[in-house]
Amino acid sequence: MIFLLIEPMSTSDISRVMEIEKVCFPWAWPVEIFYQEIVGNRLAYYYVARLDDEIQGYIGAWILRSGEVHITNLAVHPHYRRKGIARCLLKFLYGLARQKECHTITLEVRRSNHIAIELYRQEGFQETGIKPGYYRDSGEDAVVMRLKLDEGGDIPGQEELYFGH
Ligand SMILES: CC(C)(COP(=O)(O)OP(=O)(O)OC[C@H]1O[C@@H](n2cnc3c(N)ncnc32)[C@H](O)[C@@H]1OP(=O)(O)O)[C@@H](O)C(=O)NCCC(=O)NCCS
Repeated sequence: MIFLLIEPMSTSDISRVMEIEKVCFPWAWPVEIFYQEIVGNRLAYYYVARLDDEIQGYIGAWILRSGEVHITNLAVHPHYRRKGIARCLLKFLYGLARQKECHTITLEVRRSNHIAIELYRQEGFQETGIKPGYYRDSGEDAVVMRLKLDEGGDIPGQEELYFGH
């Protein structure tokens, strides 16, 4: 059995997170944004996924007073993709959302990011709109996606999750 350890991102994780961020995104976040988010933003919740004694993925979200969880970032190192890590991070976030009594998860994704859009569709997210030219770096449109969390259900809030493949 393989375990994926999911735990809150700390400032000591940021150098590894930046390595992953840079290989995952043509327009990587600058390091300051991660510091700002995990040190200075009370709405922000960031988690890393460890496998083979190393961080291989992460997720970030804001928990808004409206009861909405807004995903700000999600990435998995290219060597560890298609093993279910992103799905596990999302499921972990659903558990957190339920614990915080949130009812909806939202996100924006680049229109050209077919892989991420497919991941979210498989997870039950629906496309609710387009934000034209949303990404200032490239002028690309954002697809807005939303998942409504069911009433009740299990809370997968444990820090260790099994994952498949
Ligand atoms: C998108 C991303 C986070 C997916 O991470 P991952 O750990 O490989 O995803 P998972 O293994 O959990 O995949 C879950 C599902 O997503 C879909 N998916 C993932 N990769 C896919 C691919 N290359 N092609 C088609 N569908 C894919 C599949 O439905 C998959 O389920 P399956 O393997 O049972 O078919 C990863 O590709 C990544 O880091 N991309 C670059 C950063 C990025 O685009 N982040 C999202 C920003 S909104």
